Amino acid sequence: MGETFAVIGDPIDHSLSPHIHSAAFRELSLDCSYIGYRIPKGELEEGIEGLKKIKINGFNITIPHKIEMMKYVDKIDESCSLIGAVNTVVNEEGVFKGYNTDMDGFLEPFKKKNLKIKNCTILLLGAGGAARAIVAGVAKEEAKSITIANRTLGKAIELSEFAKKIKLNSNAIQIDNIKDSAKNYDIIINATSIGLKNEPSPITFDGIKDTTIVYDIVYKPMNTDFLKKAKENNAIIIYGYEMLLGQATRAFEIWHNMEAPYNAMKKALLGGF
Ligand code: ATR
Repeated sequence: MGETFAVIGDPIDHSLSPHIHSAAFRELSLDCSYIGYRIPKGELEEGIEGLKKIKINGFNITIPHKIEMMKYVDKIDESCSLIGAVNTVVNEEGVFKGYNTDMDGFLEPFKKKNLKIKNCTILLLGAGGAARAIVAGVAKEEAKSITIANRTLGKAIELSEFAKKIKLNSNAIQIDNIKDSAKNYDIIINATSIGLKNEPSPITFDGIKDTTIVYDIVYKPMNTDFLKKAKENNAIIIYGYEMLLGQATRAFEIWHNMEAPYNAMKKALLGGF
């Protein structure tokens, strides 16, 4: 019998994960299916019981359940305990094991393009769940320091404390106080939801070097104003879809114990735009 996978969240109908994973199954002729399953906020427990009943083989978790899902896994991988959120579950004969592939997904484009994080100074916009996975990732890659800029300063301070705990030099500022300081950083990352609704870039890139890496984790639209402005200033660009692809290929490898067909998955993802 074929295996069944899903992505749970709300909203879910715009998720590109079913396209990406279905393309991988086709490419490798695997008898598997992957569906989007809407579970509204407050209904996670019942939703998870349903998935257990149908003996789902594995699933991804997206907004708004990544943190709450920690309560419903029986075992967790160390990526999960570090980040405090789950985005991938494997069903091992009724035992749900949780992973977090956001950190590896975030790092993947750096590896693919041979771009170094070690000893770099980083400016991170945002202090939510995704930002936390990024802090863990750049700490692992031995960045020199990180400045966390957020609309709500308290959350930036909290995330900055986490960074220090995992031995990454860090400070927190209010996002409006970045002003013209972008040029002081080697890597600039947007981990806020600014751009999803075509909002203008929250910062300017005046005076940055052409070796500066600018990374937006918003993947829809693909060309956010943040990335457009960075391109006008000759930065090296990393698109949000590259992180999405990185976390999807990692989830595939956890579920299927084989190398993910990266190119087929990328083609399906880009076709979804
Ligand atoms: P995710 O799991 O995707 O990181 P999240 O935890 O809800 O989602 O985090 C969203 C981030 O985007 C937060 O840093 C949020 O700032 P606040 O902590 O101040 O809420 C940021 N954000 C969302 N909308 C924003 C806006 N219009 N301007 C500035 N920051 C915004």
